[in-house]
Amino acid sequence: MTQKKKLAVFASGSGTNFEAIAAACADGRLDAEVVLMVCDKPGALVIERAQRFGIESFVFSPKSYASKADYEKEIVEMLQARQVDLVCLAGYMRIVSDVLLNAYRGKIINIHPSLLPAFKGAHAVEDAVAYGVKVYGITIHFVDETLDGGKIIAQRAFPYEGNDPAEVHRLGQKIEHEIYVDTIRKLLI
Ligand code: GAR
Repeated sequence: MTQKKKLAVFASGSGTNFEAIAAACADGRLDAEVVLMVCDKPGALVIERAQRFGIESFVFSPKSYASKADYEKEIVEMLQARQVDLVCLAGYMRIVSDVLLNAYRGKIINIHPSLLPAFKGAHAVEDAVAYGVKVYGITIHFVDETLDGGKIIAQRAFPYEGNDPAEVHRLGQKIEHEIYVDTIRKLLI
């Protein structure tokens, strides 16, 4: 029997994408295991979700480290000790540095709620609604040292003609949970 691939999921907030990935691992849709959840926001809802799935968490406060390199070194050690194959950023609202990239280049992916390269950043949906966009979308891409940059792996578009960001988030998240699991499955083959 081949060993299951090992995933780490990084998140800063609610963690619905984390949960979609963890659930797909638990019910066999993904032949993989989430071995670590990394969260930079003590108190974030994703921490409770990880507990429910019995998944180990590393929760840290960036403020309590002298630099990004310092906390990323600690994270890389944890990833290597657990032999992580793929790092999935799922609402992890930080740019990663060379420390993580050099250790896991080509093995870190991110999900973003726009059709990149349009609408990068933390307010992609709100910015797109303000712009009057009529076709929205979700992108999964390899991570590089730039904000929401890196080669695109998968995209899915959906039409929406209204002006309610909450509705775009709702429509988009349904798609995110499917496309993230599908993309991870393809990358792990
Ligand atoms: C997701 O919509 C994801 O696309 C977005 O954060 C949300 C996290 O939701 N990521 C970015 O904006 C990255 N720039 P979740 O915590 O419910 O998974």
